[in-house]
Amino acid sequence: MKLFSSVHDVTDIKQLVADALKLKQNPYADQHLGKNKSLGLIFLNPSLRTRLSTQKAAMNLGMNVMVMNIDKEGWALELNDGVVMNGTTVEHIREAAGVMGQYVDILGVRSFPGLKDRTLDYSEDIFNKFVKYSGIPVVSLESATRHPLQSLADLVTITELQKRPWPKVVLTWAPHVKALPQAVPNSFAEWMCKAEVDFVIAHPEGYALCEDFTKGATITHNQQEAIRDADFIYVKNWSAYEPYGKVFTGHDDWMLTNAKLTQTNDAKVMHCLPVRRDLELSAEILDGPNSLVVHEAGNRVWAAQAVLKSMLQELV
Ligand code: CP
Repeated sequence: MKLFSSVHDVTDIKQLVADALKLKQNPYADQHLGKNKSLGLIFLNPSLRTRLSTQKAAMNLGMNVMVMNIDKEGWALELNDGVVMNGTTVEHIREAAGVMGQYVDILGVRSFPGLKDRTLDYSEDIFNKFVKYSGIPVVSLESATRHPLQSLADLVTITELQKRPWPKVVLTWAPHVKALPQAVPNSFAEWMCKAEVDFVIAHPEGYALCEDFTKGATITHNQQEAIRDADFIYVKNWSAYEPYGKVFTGHDDWMLTNAKLTQTNDAKVMHCLPVRRDLELSAEILDGPNSLVVHEAGNRVWAAQAVLKSMLQELV
């Protein structure tokens, strides 16, 4: 694998999940692959899990890792071509990404959407420029429209813990106080639509995701109906795709509670984290036996390690 930006970059999803679960059993078996190889992790936005789990995965593979919060520590980047740089930007992404490609063998990039211009965000302009100008294999650490390392870890978690074939998996919208990107739900939907699960999306009217990511899913505005007999419930807030980046009030009753869980098949509850307690997801669920959120975050290491291993195997 030379690029990991979405599920479409994976030729065999089941094999990648199996690889991740195998690495979980034997984390240090492939240290020879990463010897004298370097991973650069470039963050334009904050992170806890993605940063630490990807760093840990690379260390397990014997790689050296360099991390840069480029938004705080680097020169202000110019992202557009044809600009006379007489303002606040100091370095063009063409040179910056090109230089990174000289220092490391694999690059990871995190770049969130602005949520102002849908066409620009959904073009993945910034992420694609890092891919183009670095000239080396690139892993998405969450881009404007997708979070594939998170989705792979989510599928690993479901595969690891499912108690029956074709489990019912429900992605439910949840309340929030801010406008959040669609990257996590887009990506989760895209992976679930290709997995051996019965996949349902529940959200209030106005929060339909882009259809490109949800083909094959059952979509409903009725959360109660959606979660009936569910084996896994994936909780996540997102802002509207149309009108882009907007939030609507009046949906506080969409927060998942223990009372709602009684209608499910003792559903395990997932969330990518960070989560706002008693707003997006109830504390009683987070602190109870049905929560998988920490286990799921733990699996981020094995997802990242499976992807990095696949990339290392293709490095000349
Ligand atoms: N889930 C996730 O990506 O967490 P971070 O934003 O902390 O990396």
